[in-house]
Amino acid sequence: MLKINEDYLKLRGSYLFSDIAKKVKKFETENPDKKIIRLGIGDVTLPLAPAIIETLHKSVDEMGVKETFKGYAPDLGYEFLRNTIVENDYKSRGCEIYPDEIFVSDGAKSDSGNIQEIFSTDNVIAVCDPVYPVYVDSNVMAGRTGSFDELNGQWSDVVYMPCTAENGFCPEIPNMEADIIYLCFPNNPTGEVISKDKLQQWVDHANKTGAVIIYDAAYEAYISGENIPHSIYECEGARTCAIELRSFSKNAGFTGLRLGFAVVPKDLVIGGTKLNSLWARRHGTKYNGAPYIVQRAGEAVYSEAGKKQIKEQIAYYMANASYIYNGLKDAGYEVYGGTNSPYIWLKTPNEMSSWEFFDTLLSKAAVVGTPGVGFGPHGEGYFRLTAFGDKDATKEAVERILKM
Ligand SMILES: Cc1ncc(COP(=O)(O)O)c(C=O)c1O
Repeated sequence: MLKINEDYLKLRGSYLFSDIAKKVKKFETENPDKKIIRLGIGDVTLPLAPAIIETLHKSVDEMGVKETFKGYAPDLGYEFLRNTIVENDYKSRGCEIYPDEIFVSDGAKSDSGNIQEIFSTDNVIAVCDPVYPVYVDSNVMAGRTGSFDELNGQWSDVVYMPCTAENGFCPEIPNMEADIIYLCFPNNPTGEVISKDKLQQWVDHANKTGAVIIYDAAYEAYISGENIPHSIYECEGARTCAIELRSFSKNAGFTGLRLGFAVVPKDLVIGGTKLNSLWARRHGTKYNGAPYIVQRAGEAVYSEAGKKQIKEQIAYYMANASYIYNGLKDAGYEVYGGTNSPYIWLKTPNEMSSWEFFDTLLSKAAVVGTPGVGFGPHGEGYFRLTAFGDKDATKEAVERILKM
């Protein structure tokens, strides 16, 4: 008899952003004269940089000429892009990473959801709490989690690592078995970062216990501080225990174009099998590659003009971040993140729950943010604002919040 994958039925019914959308829609209908400012979803708002647009046009033209037309891309991605990534993101930082360890993809969401496939369903996952929901939900779909406890908001068979103000939103190394450890820095949602020493401790732990770290560095481009690792491969020994995920979405505005990559070092060997070979097999079987024109656009991100233009875009968003951070801090809010990340994580005032603060902000200031509890139980009492909005709208939003 045909049966569905019942693990899908375990997934939590409603998704955070659809709940938010419903509340906003209701508010809009009831208050047609109020201009809503959205600082909720983490999507970029600036258009693609000129260097990228120029390359897109050029490569579209190539596709229309017999001599330069491109069909299926090579399995791992075009060499021109993989070589450029290695030179700019890894060699320049002293990391030993080779082009055949780079797997070009359509983004870090797919990679962070798919990477679990190459591990046994018996493995135990460890995630930060609060967390980017994809890590958990993709493991629910795969049957790697037990049942959901409505009371504590957690799945059984999952190791949750609380990220709190007390530990600087950097998880402690768990004292129970965890085989697949998901880390994301700069972090979504807290906007906080990990020091190189701390990350080294995680790498040492993973090498000691035989665990693998899935390191999501989608927001790496926002790091400006000293001693904050841009890549896990800056740590000694990471080649034998870590897979890194990167995205072109937040650094270069590719959320609509779609491009990312996973790094799977050849030294990462589990039970005699190279994870690089397993991921290559999975990639070759299930994925036919990011479009040629998008991979060329990715290459343009690393051109001199591209780097300069993208730096300006990041500076624009980070100016928003510091406006939000400083505005709220000066007004007495307890705020985190926002320095090496486009996310500001604030403690809700007066012991309000995340959703109570969401409702207050919407009704009194017509500003939309994201309730922290939507990212996990330890997000309760917190709230996420993003710096990806328009500069003037962001300023207005902060002014409205301060007047509440
Ligand atoms: C932590 C994290 N990883 C991955 C992604 C998705 O990146 P992409 O657009 O490359 O799929 C996001 C998007 O918000 C994210 O916050």
